[in-house]
Amino acid sequence: MKTTIKQIGSHENEEVTIGAWLANKRSSGKIAFLQLRDGTGFIQGVVVKSDVGEEAFQQIKEISQESSLYVTGVVKADDRAPSGYELGVTGVEVIHEAVDYPITPKEHGTEFLMDHRHLWLRSKKQHAVMVIRNEIIRATYEFFNQEGFVKIDPPILTGSSAEGTTNLFHTKYFDEDAYLSQSGQLYMEAAAMAFNKVFSFGPTFRAEKSKTRRHLIEFWMIEPEMAFMDHEESLELQEQYVSFIAEAVLANCAQELEALERDTGALEKIQAPFPRISYDDAVAFLQKEGHEIEWGEDFGAPHETAIAEAYEKPVFITNYPKDIKAFYMKPHPDRDDVVLCADLIAPEGYGEIIGGSQRIDDEALLQQRYDEHNLSADAYQWYMDLRKYGSVPHSGFGLGLERTVAWIAGIEHVRETIPFPRLLNRLYP
Ligand code: 4AD
Ligand code: MG
Repeated sequence: MKTTIKQIGSHENEEVTIGAWLANKRSSGKIAFLQLRDGTGFIQGVVVKSDVGEEAFQQIKEISQESSLYVTGVVKADDRAPSGYELGVTGVEVIHEAVDYPITPKEHGTEFLMDHRHLWLRSKKQHAVMVIRNEIIRATYEFFNQEGFVKIDPPILTGSSAEGTTNLFHTKYFDEDAYLSQSGQLYMEAAAMAFNKVFSFGPTFRAEKSKTRRHLIEFWMIEPEMAFMDHEESLELQEQYVSFIAEAVLANCAQELEALERDTGALEKIQAPFPRISYDDAVAFLQKEGHEIEWGEDFGAPHETAIAEAYEKPVFITNYPKDIKAFYMKPHPDRDDVVLCADLIAPEGYGEIIGGSQRIDDEALLQQRYDEHNLSADAYQWYMDLRKYGSVPHSGFGLGLERTVAWIAGIEHVRETIPFPRLLNRLYP
């Protein structure tokens, strides 16, 4: 019976065959332990010399790391095994012998591992991170489907920018200029007017000369946009969504969290509602803590971390000054120096995982912003149309997938949370 490691539990005490790679091995005179992986999981194969015979035992002992195999054996329950099972091996067929696999069980430097990212993905830790990433994506679709959202795909090649012009990737679009999307938001606003509640999930690009543990050049964003929803309602949706993700990973990725030695107690605390602090109060708090920051300045990583450390859950920082936020944010009804927006800061120093706001819905005010920001009337005409024809209050937000995976999985640097990271100094592999 052919099966996979993930399915192996339904074949207890049966003989099965799995296609696998040899991740690692150790042996003594009479017994060999094969660490097998098949992409769906990891399992230990136990080879006993007296069971398979002298010749087969010697051959199995010689198999090199990452050789591909068909392994046949009897499935045995084993409480000590992370998967709960091990395989009593009865036979091994080598499909392809790997020679001198570069990533050995010893420690390697990060640059070396990044150069071999196409192989590094096979390792237990990287595998666990990608399974958690996949679970967050799956839970995202489940959450927004159950909330009645329609998935809409905004374009990647665009003729205008959503988040300012300083970090745009420029390309030619035949004879025109084009940019890789920084955010699908403006298109999602159009979609919300057509489908009410929508979300997107796709790659976004920022030509940022930042080399920090939180920045990627290409990253994936989830961008919900909701018609007839104000800022406060959007915050409630955000905290429910993030709680849902944390709960899904805890429920469905126990083995992966264990492989990563993630403190699950910290994740269990991630339950709505989340605390909120206004930008004004955050500045006062930071000043009291001895940080050099003035009202009107944007927060850097140390500021965000200091604020996050005051809470066990993610914290919303609300109502930033209008001058440090995007042109489309709606002013606060009582003061025009701050806008109806919030950044959600993850605990444990992982930084901003969500940026969101209520959007300007008034045509005259949006025109004023176009003028202040020198936005070309041509490129943004279609966006103004949304305020001309049945404008409604609406809000939305963007969650950065890689920062969220880093936080949930407890990974120091976002480069390990995307299969093939695009970094300031890296376009290979
Ligand atoms: O705060 P940002 O720039 O917001 C927007 O793009 C809005 N248009 C979203 C919206 O309202 N629809 O980006 C949103 C999130 C950030 O909170 C962060 O998690 C992530 O995207 N992000 C990055 N992640 C990795 N590398 C980068 N260079 C990132 N820049 C932003
Ligand atoms: Mg932001």
